[in-house]
Order: sequence, then C-alpha cells, then structure tokens
Amino acid sequence: MTSFSFDAAFNLTGKVVLVTGGGAGIGNAVAQVFAERGAHLALADLAPNIADLAAALPGTGHFGIASDITKPGEPERVVAAALEKFGRIDVLVNNAGIAILESAEVVTDLAWDRTIAINLTASFKMARAAFPALSKAGAGRIVNIASQAAFIALDRHVAYTASKAGILGMTKVLAAEWAEFGITVNAISPTVVETELGRKAWAGDLGVQFKRKIPVGRFAQPEEIALAVLYLASGAAGMITGENLVVDGGFTIQ
Ligand SMILES: NC(=O)c1ccc[n+]([C@@H]2O[C@H](COP(=O)([O-])OP(=O)(O)OC[C@H]3O[C@@H](n4cnc5c(N)ncnc54)[C@H](O)[C@@H]3O)[C@@H](O)[C@H]2O)c1
Repeated sequence: MTSFSFDAAFNLTGKVVLVTGGGAGIGNAVAQVFAERGAHLALADLAPNIADLAAALPGTGHFGIASDITKPGEPERVVAAALEKFGRIDVLVNNAGIAILESAEVVTDLAWDRTIAINLTASFKMARAAFPALSKAGAGRIVNIASQAAFIALDRHVAYTASKAGILGMTKVLAAEWAEFGITVNAISPTVVETELGRKAWAGDLGVQFKRKIPVGRFAQPEEIALAVLYLASGAAGMITGENLVVDGGFTIQ
C-alpha cells in the first residue's frame, strides 16, 4: 500500500536521479538536495571535471559524465552510462540551459539555434532516451526547468522565451502521453536565480530595477528551486502532472 507519511514520501534512498547541467547553479543545488535525501546522482554536464563534482556530493557512489547533450547521440549515451552504473533511472531533471540575450532584430542564427538546441531540443531528446527506464521505474518523474520568461515578455528574451515556452508545451504532451506508464512530467518556472547565468543576465542597474518589481523584494536562491524539484519528484506529488510550478516571489501575479 502507498504510504502518504512525510518520511515515506520524501525518502529518496536508492532512487537514481539524472540531472543535466548538474555541475553548476540550479542543477548542482538539485544534486545536493537529492543526495542529502539518499538518492544516487548521475550528473551530465559540459564541465570536464563533472565526475569530481559528483564525487563531492553528500553520500557515495555518485556518477558524473562529461557531455554536450546537444550533440547527436549524446542523450542516449548519457542515459546508457547512467543505466550501466546504477541499473535504473527514477527521475530526470532537464536543467541544462543557456541565456543569450539580444534584441529580436539582431539575434543571430547561431544564437537562436544554440538556444533552442540546448534549452528545448536536448530536453526532449533526454526525455525520449530516458523513457524506457522511467517507465520501468514504476513511478518515474521528469522535471523540466522552464522560466518566468516562458509565459511573459521580457526584453531581449525572444530566443530564450521561445525555448522555454516550448518546454511548457512539451511538458503537457509528455505528461498526457506518459501518465499510463506511471510517469509524471512537470515544469518549474523560476524568476531570476542567483547563479552565474542569472547574475550575468541581470547584472548592474537592470537587476536592481528588476528586483524592485518582485513582490518579495529579492531574487531566488538555487536551493529554493532545487527543493521545488524535490517536491515534484517525491512521492508527495504523484497526482501532479503537466503542471508548471512558478517560483517567482510573486512577480508574474501582478
Ligand atoms: N539563473 C536564472 O536566473 C534562471 C531563471 C529561470 C530559469 N533558469 C533555468 O535554469 C536552468 C539552470 O540555469 P543556471 O542558472 O543554473 O545556469 P548555470 O549557467 O549556472 O549552469 C548551467 C549548467 O548547464 C551546463 N550546460 C550548459 N549547456 C550544456 C550542454 N549543452 N550540455 C551539458 N551541460 C550544459 C553548464 O555547463 C552549467 O553547469 C537553465 O535551464 C536556465 O534557463 C535559470
């Protein structure tokens, strides 16, 4: 019988969690919180030292694989490597992403294509590659990191917004199609998060002005996004699928 006690729902001992972009920022915070709850982590990242970063997580036996997940065959290779190491995958966190911010009239083909390739296409290919393992897991979970920019207009965000709006659409279709396989698929849409990406995108006066518009008066910390991921991946959230959890200090309710 399913137990709905807090401890059972949030006990991730023995679960295998695959995180893209797990070497820095939000992805690394996700890895930390899951590792603290007893999960085994598989981190895929461009960072050549990703195996060392995985080894530095709480607990033992974590795994890191250096990969550019936009390259042909890489999502499949990453999933196969995680399966070879752990024999199962319970949770996929599609987190790797970039923000190249330019006014729409000057966005280059390269910037557009790279943004869509990482933020959207690679997320889909990771989900498709992980599907057999997630459906075998029994209560598989996918959490896609979107953004407030997925559903509001922010200056210089055209490529980023297109990629993240695509994530929300993809999340709903995968949720509907894969519910029968016991997999839930959800998105999280943060406001600005204090990571390298966030600090670069909102440096200087732009960030100061933007922060004033957020009702809680501050940006998010990576751990606040990670704990929202943990919730959606936990046994507490089995009835939630196709949803977009907005973590924005109230910015987009205005
Ligand atoms: N920081 C913010 O303000 C913010 C706000 C909303 C949404 N997000 C989203 O959160 C996610 C994480 O952002 P972050 O702020 O932690 O960024 P970050 O730049 O701090 O970290 C991103 C990580 O992804 C990895 N990565 C990038 N491209 C990759 C690729 N092709 N293959 C493998 N790994 C790759 C990087 O090496 C890095 O470790 C992104 O999807 C981003 O769009 C961030």
